Amino acid sequence: MAVVSQSQGVRGGPAAGWRNAAAYLRDPLPYLEDVARTGGPVAKVPFPGGHSFHFVSDPDLVRRVLVDEHASFVKGRALRAARRLLGDGLLTSEGADHLRRRRMIQPVFRRAVIEAYGAEMVAAATRTSARWRAGMELDIDLAMTDLALDIVGRTIFNADVESEASEIRDVLEAGMRVFHRFLLPGGELLWHLPLPATRGFNSARDDFDQMMLALIRSRSGAAQDPPDLIDHLIMLEGDGGDGRLSETEIRDEAVTLLLAGHETTARALTWAWHLLTLYPDAATAVRAELGAVLGDRPPTATDYAQLPYTRAVFCETLRLYPPVWALARIATREVDLGHLVIPDGGTVIMSQWVMHRDPELFEHALAFRPERWLSGPEPHPGAYFPFGGGPRLCIGERFAMLEGVLVLATLAQRWEVETQDRAPRIDARFTLRPRGGLRARIRAA
Ligand code: HEM
Repeated sequence: MAVVSQSQGVRGGPAAGWRNAAAYLRDPLPYLEDVARTGGPVAKVPFPGGHSFHFVSDPDLVRRVLVDEHASFVKGRALRAARRLLGDGLLTSEGADHLRRRRMIQPVFRRAVIEAYGAEMVAAATRTSARWRAGMELDIDLAMTDLALDIVGRTIFNADVESEASEIRDVLEAGMRVFHRFLLPGGELLWHLPLPATRGFNSARDDFDQMMLALIRSRSGAAQDPPDLIDHLIMLEGDGGDGRLSETEIRDEAVTLLLAGHETTARALTWAWHLLTLYPDAATAVRAELGAVLGDRPPTATDYAQLPYTRAVFCETLRLYPPVWALARIATREVDLGHLVIPDGGTVIMSQWVMHRDPELFEHALAFRPERWLSGPEPHPGAYFPFGGGPRLCIGERFAMLEGVLVLATLAQRWEVETQDRAPRIDARFTLRPRGGLRARIRAA
C-alpha cells in the first residue's frame, strides 16, 4: 500500500468538513472506501466545528490500534453513547473495570458451556423450519432476527422471549435511529435536544428495562437445569469480594449479551442466505456436505468440526457483509502511527467493510468464495477482523460461529432460501442491514 506524507493523508482543508459529513451521512460505506483509496494508510478527515477523524486502512496499523497499542485508546463515541441502553456492561466499560468484568464473564463463554447451548440453537432452528412451507414468501431478515432472539432468549434467560420479541425489536429500532448520529464528532449534543427519535428511544428503553429486571427477579434463586447465562452470572455473585455482581451489573451484562448476541448473528445469517442465492454452486456444496455428514439427522455441536464448508460459508459471509462494519477508538495520548500522528483525544476509525473488500488483501475480493477458508493462505491478521481484536475481541465469537453453522445446517437440510432482490440496498447503521428487510421465497431442498 502506498505511503503518504502527512499532508497527503489529510482529506481537504477545514472547509471540507461539511462536505465530508454530508457524504458520510448519505452513505458511509462508499464514502469510507473512497477515503481509503485516495487518502493512504491513515487519512485525516475534517468534520464541521473543528472536529476530525483519522481513517486507518492499513492492516498493520489496524493491528497496532486494536492489539499492540490498545492501551492508548478507548472506545469511540458510538459505543460510549450505547451506555444509555447497555449500561456499563462488558461492551461499553473501559480500563480496569472492563478487565475485571472480562475476567469474571470469560468462564461463562468457555467451550463446554457454549457447546451445551448447541441443542437450543438446533431446537430453535427446527421450530423455524417447522413453520416454513414450500412456496411461502417472507422477510428473511425478520425471520433471522426472531430466530436469533429465540436462541439468545433461551440460552441467556432460559426463557421464551417470543412474546417480548417485538418489544426487544422496538428498543433496538429506536436505538438504531439515534445511534447513527453518535458516530459523528459532536453528535452527543443531540441527546439534549427534545427530538422525537430521542424521546422514542428513552421511552422504549424504559419499557425494556422493566422487562429485563422482571426476567432477572423472576429467578427463585435455584439455577435452571441446564444453567443459562444468567445463572452463570448469578453464580459469579457467590464468589465474594471482587467477584460479586450487583443486580444492576447483572442487568447490564444481560442486556449487553441479549442485544450484542442476536443483532449481529441475525444480520450474518440474512447475508449468508443472500450470498447462497447469488452463488448456487456454494448452496449445492453446502447441501452435499450436510448430506454426507448428517444424512437426515439434525446437527449437534460436535458436528461443527465436521462441517468445514458450511463454516467457510459463514466466514466468507462475515468477510463480505461484516455485521459490525466499523470500529472507532479515541486516543488517550498522542500516538504516532508512522504516517500520521493521532493527537490525544483524536478519533480513529477502522472499517471491516473496507478492509475485507480490499483487492490488495484478498484475491477476487468481491467474489463469494468459501473455498478460500478451506485452503490457501490465512488472511493478514489486521485484514480480517469481523469480531474485532485484542483485549476487546468479541467474547461471543465461539457462540456466534456455532450458532451460524448450526442454524444454516438445520435450515438448509430442508429448505432453499431464495432472496428476491439481487442487489439489496444496505443500511449501514449499528450493523449492516438490508434496507427495508429482504424478501425471500422458501423452496423445499
Ligand atoms: C456474527 C456475530 C457477531 C459479530 C460479527 C460480533 C462482532 C463483535 C465485535 C466487532 C466486537 C468488538 C467491538 C469493539 O472492539 O469495539 C464485539 C464485542 C462483543 N461482542 Fe460480539 N459479535 C457477534 C456475536 C456476539 C454474540 C453471539 C455475543 C454474545 C452472546 C456477543 C457479545 C459481545 C460482547 C459482550 C462484546 C464486548 C467484549 C469486550 O469488550 O470485552 N457478540 N463483537
